[in-house]
Amino acid sequence: MHFETLAIHAGQEPDPLTGAVVPPIYQTSTYKQDGVGGLRGGYEYSRSANPTRTALEECLAAIEGGRRGLAFASGLAAEDTLLRAVCRPGDHAVIPGDAYGGSYRLFAKVQDAWGLGHTPSAGHDADAVRAAIRTGETKVVWVETPTNPLLNIGDIEALAAAAHDAGALLVVDNTFASPYLQQPLTLGADVVVHSTTKYCGGHSDVVGGALVVRDLDLAERIGFHQNAIGAVSGPFDSWLTLRGLKTLGVRMDRHCDNAEKVVDFLTRHPAVSQVIYPGLAEHPGHAVASKQMKRYGGIVSFRVAAGEQAALDACARAQVFTLAESLGGIESLIEHPGRMTHASVAGTDLEVPADLIRLSVGIETVDDLLADLDRALHTTAG
Ligand SMILES: Cc1ncc(COP(=O)(O)O)c(C=O)c1O
Repeated sequence: MHFETLAIHAGQEPDPLTGAVVPPIYQTSTYKQDGVGGLRGGYEYSRSANPTRTALEECLAAIEGGRRGLAFASGLAAEDTLLRAVCRPGDHAVIPGDAYGGSYRLFAKVQDAWGLGHTPSAGHDADAVRAAIRTGETKVVWVETPTNPLLNIGDIEALAAAAHDAGALLVVDNTFASPYLQQPLTLGADVVVHSTTKYCGGHSDVVGGALVVRDLDLAERIGFHQNAIGAVSGPFDSWLTLRGLKTLGVRMDRHCDNAEKVVDFLTRHPAVSQVIYPGLAEHPGHAVASKQMKRYGGIVSFRVAAGEQAALDACARAQVFTLAESLGGIESLIEHPGRMTHASVAGTDLEVPADLIRLSVGIETVDDLLADLDRALHTTAG
């Protein structure tokens, strides 16, 4: 079956008890046993498993081309659980040179204290990643593609080869692309990470995370840690995320349509010094993005010619674009990464340009988005 069919049906058979077409929200912590150990369908306690979460996990596995999905309370909870499952003190990870700030903080301020070393490296340069790998020590090569917020593109096939040559796992954070635009497991990655808070949920109304894997032994190890640590997705959050997944395909197409028009508009705008979007022929990752992505996504970053204050002013003046962190929802958002999402990497190698603005282009009528940007930027210029 194809993507949209899987998104709507995988893991979502009508409820056997009532025929309910939509998987119910099983808002229960525990389950009656038919005699000691007589579990119905394997459910005994909702940290370990819950039917609404199972539906979400099966759907995620199907649409990522994986064999098992695991749903968590947030993207970072998924990341932390994965690292604890596959790394030990003394191990090492190669991470993106422009990682999402929260992921960087997890490696630098949390995992580091427990003995997991890390080396930032340009994920868009497979040779640089190879050079950063320490054979025997590196257990994980971590990649975001496209990256947040600079939209660099890593070649998943080349990075998988580099990781596997050293006996390491390739982990791909697929949050920005979503499984509709890119399926890293089919390109050789071992683990896909999602902040399902973003495109998967898609409506800015739920925080969640996911891991998807092909290898069932690895799935077993991660599943053990999911239960042992307990940072799981609750039933209502799972239900909201699953509802979001059903429309992921149509939403992503509209996000991409609108983003392409925004890019075209910004490229010609006098207040803008650079537009960063993998769909642009001059983007250094354009060829690789064209090879591994269906389209180029809904995130557009750009630099404001007049500098940081002008970028801050434009963010403040936008009206249809809401000034807010996060991304991937149906409504358009604008943010200043240097002062907002990426404030935690200020002063490090991962610092982002001060004149940078990131847009999460929503699915509103695009003419209203263009008019809003024009207003915000003209005031800046004048
Ligand atoms: C690329 C990426 N990965 C991971 C995360 C973390 O996810 P969460 O906020 O759901 O913990 C984010 C959050 O913005 C993100 O943008």
